[in-house]
Amino acid sequence: MSDPLLVVDQLQVHFRAGGRGRGVVHAVDGLDLVVGVSEFVGIIGESGCGKSTLGKTLVHVNQPTSGRILLRGDDVTSPDRERLRRLRREIQFMFQDPHSSLNPRFTTREILKEPLIANRISATDKDLARMLDRVALPESALDRYPHEFSGGQRQRIGLARAMALDPDLLILDEPVSGLDVSVQAQVLNLLSEIRREGNAAFLMITHDLEVVKHSADRVAVMYLGVIVEEGPVAEVLDDPAHPYTRALVSATPSAPGARERIVLAGELPSPLSPPSGCRFRTRCWKARSICAERTPALEAAGALRRVACHFPETRPDSASDEGVSA
Ligand SMILES: Nc1ncnc2c1ncn2[C@@H]1O[C@H](COP(=O)(O)OP(=O)(O)OP(=O)(O)O)[C@@H](O)[C@H]1O
Ligand code: SF4
Ligand SMILES: [Mg+2]
Repeated sequence: MSDPLLVVDQLQVHFRAGGRGRGVVHAVDGLDLVVGVSEFVGIIGESGCGKSTLGKTLVHVNQPTSGRILLRGDDVTSPDRERLRRLRREIQFMFQDPHSSLNPRFTTREILKEPLIANRISATDKDLARMLDRVALPESALDRYPHEFSGGQRQRIGLARAMALDPDLLILDEPVSGLDVSVQAQVLNLLSEIRREGNAAFLMITHDLEVVKHSADRVAVMYLGVIVEEGPVAEVLDDPAHPYTRALVSATPSAPGARERIVLAGELPSPLSPPSGCRFRTRCWKARSICAERTPALEAAGALRRVACHFPETRPDSASDEGVSA
């Protein structure tokens, strides 16, 4: 991996559930993640596992409960006002739902200008037209409102706005969900082009493994608030080491790592009371008593991969299912 741009160290984001005394939602619960300079990292995991909460916390829409966030080595976990202002320029977040993230009362011109004005940057219509051109939209789009565009075009406006301040890191929350396959491909190709042209790193949140395969260098697999496996996309998806990754891959029949289809028993457990030890143990076909007693750490499994499991599927250096000591 390239030099670290972003380091997330044991991040916890907890919410109070339904008012006083009704428990704590452990949405993100001890999460480790590294994103390199100019790297494209995909985060995958099923609905409710904490992906959006992670993204929103990195841009301080949500506040961390504990843990650390470092950007180029600078601790930005609890930034003061001035640092937060700069951070909002360095890290951009494209929200999950373009319908709600683009102000319906603003024209595209006003939407694009908003982050520039907030950072005291002036822009002519020519500058704005260049921003639109970057996402393959015509200058005439400047005077139109969000409802006058298709879903794919709205995503591209969101992308142009997110790129307006030339961020170091762009977080994309489900950038192509809800778009039909051909429009998905257009948006993903556009992302690849933008990436080739600049130096920004990308953190893309998605539940779609095909999208990750198309775009990302590395993938991090999230389960109930933690990363359970991460590494190069081809390595992780072709030969999953964590049982949960294997189950996810098996549900994508075209994936090379999909052997037989694994249907997971039950739902994602409630983040109000995550299971002890390994969070995946209530659905894991390999669980043993130690899995309830000891939380597996995210540890190196091969040169570039890390896995959090006492009995990983494959372990290049030992390859043993019995290889854990209590
Ligand atoms: N502000 C909040 N207050 C209380 N609970 C929250 C809040 N935001 C998120 N949660 C809870 O945290 C958990 C993780 O939610 P999150 O939106 O991060 O999941 P996700 O992985 O993005 O899911 P999806 O794929 O459906 O978008 C869920 O149980 C959710 O209900
Ligand atoms: S630690 Fe145990 S329960 Fe968790 S994924 Fe590994 S084998 Fe399954
Ligand atoms: Mg989400």
